[in-house]
This record gives sequence, structure tokens and C-alpha cells, in this order.
Amino acid sequence: MRERILAPSILSADFTKLGEEIKIVEKAGAKYLHFDVMDGMFVPSISFGMPVLKSIRKVSDMVYDAHLMIEQPERYLEYFRESGADLITVHLETVKDAKAALEQIHALGAKAGLAVNPETPVEGLYPYLEYMDMALVMTVHPGFGGQKYIEECTDKVAALYAEIQKRGLDVDIQVDGGICEETIDKAIQAGANILVAGSSVYKGDAYENAVKLMGHF
Ligand code: DX5
Ligand code: ZN
Repeated sequence: MRERILAPSILSADFTKLGEEIKIVEKAGAKYLHFDVMDGMFVPSISFGMPVLKSIRKVSDMVYDAHLMIEQPERYLEYFRESGADLITVHLETVKDAKAALEQIHALGAKAGLAVNPETPVEGLYPYLEYMDMALVMTVHPGFGGQKYIEECTDKVAALYAEIQKRGLDVDIQVDGGICEETIDKAIQAGANILVAGSSVYKGDAYENAVKLMGHF
């Protein structure tokens, strides 16, 4: 069985004590830290970027998972890698040449991910599966934390998992958006093994919430 990993998204953390918020989920046993970068162009909101990543890099050895919701992400891959990203995910909708972008990430020494929005067919990822470490299926429209899981996306995860199995590839499947106690099981059953959770971790007691979510693994 592929390792199941919780990736708390600090988008929903309290930024006045970001270091502590990260330590809490690390202690709870989360292996990845999800870092949502938004540019106000590809998505409506603006979040944070390289200086914040660089600063929080010092607090933990977790895998820092940078999710780039930005136009022309190729411009910034080098800088996010330098700032401490271990895994960099770009959106299929934003890259000029997905294979080249994934190769560029690998050349920087990071793991590479490719994401699709809810309205983008998951088959769009298939030509690039050989070149990625992780496929990200968005389960909300990117741009904000705290949205509701889009049920139709579960089938996309299942189709992707079947394709990966059929081709004998070793590609992780990440789901992002609306993952909580009520939705995490369906995502896992469909084949997701890296579960992003923002509000369901950081709303309330982050330690307890993270432990509870990992109880579903
Ligand atoms: C959405 C982001 C998510 C977000 C998830 O645009 O990509 O990573 O933080 O938040 P929740 O878990 O609250 O849906
Ligand atoms: Zn994200």
C-alpha cells in the first residue's frame, strides 16, 4: 500500500504564530506541509510567496509542498526551490509545456507535481504521468480555503488511480479542497494518498484535528 500522508495547508493557520502552527502539525505526525501560493490572476486571491517560505523553512524538516496557483509558474520555479520547497506543483492550466516544467522542477532537485482544476478533465494529466512524482486533483475551485468538497471530483481520482495502476507507475495522488472527517474516506478509497487539509486542521485544535484525520489512514 502506498504511504498515506496528511499535508496541512497553512493557508488556514494563524499567521501571527505561524512557526508554532507548523510545529503543532509536525508533532501530530503530518509529513507534508502544504504551501498555497496565489497570484490574484490564476485565482482571485493573493496569499504569500518566497520570503514567507524561506522564513518558515527553518522551523521544520517536513516535506514542504508548494502549490503554485499562479500564471506562468515557470518564472518562479527556481525561486521557490531556493526558498525551500521540496515538492513543487504547477497547474496544467497555467504551463506552456507541462513536460518541460516538470523537467525543470526535477533539474532543480525537487519533486514535481501537476494539478488539474475541477473543470479540467483528469485525462489531461495522462501524457505527463511518467514525468511527475505527484498528480493533484483539485476538489474545490482553487483560490480560498474552507470551501465544500466537490463530489464529482471523486470519480476523477478513481480514474487517475486506475490509469496509474494500469501503467505500473509510481505516482502519488494528492487531493486538495474540502477534505475533512466527512470527505476524507471517499478520497482515500478512490486512490488518493496525499491529503491536503486546511480549515479542517486549523479550525479548532490543530493537533487533535490532524490526529483525527490521520486516524482514517
Ligand atoms: C485552495 C487551496 C487549498 C486550501 C484548502 O485554493 O489550494 O490548499 O488551503 O483548504 P481547505 O482544506 O479548507 O479546503
Ligand atoms: Zn493547495
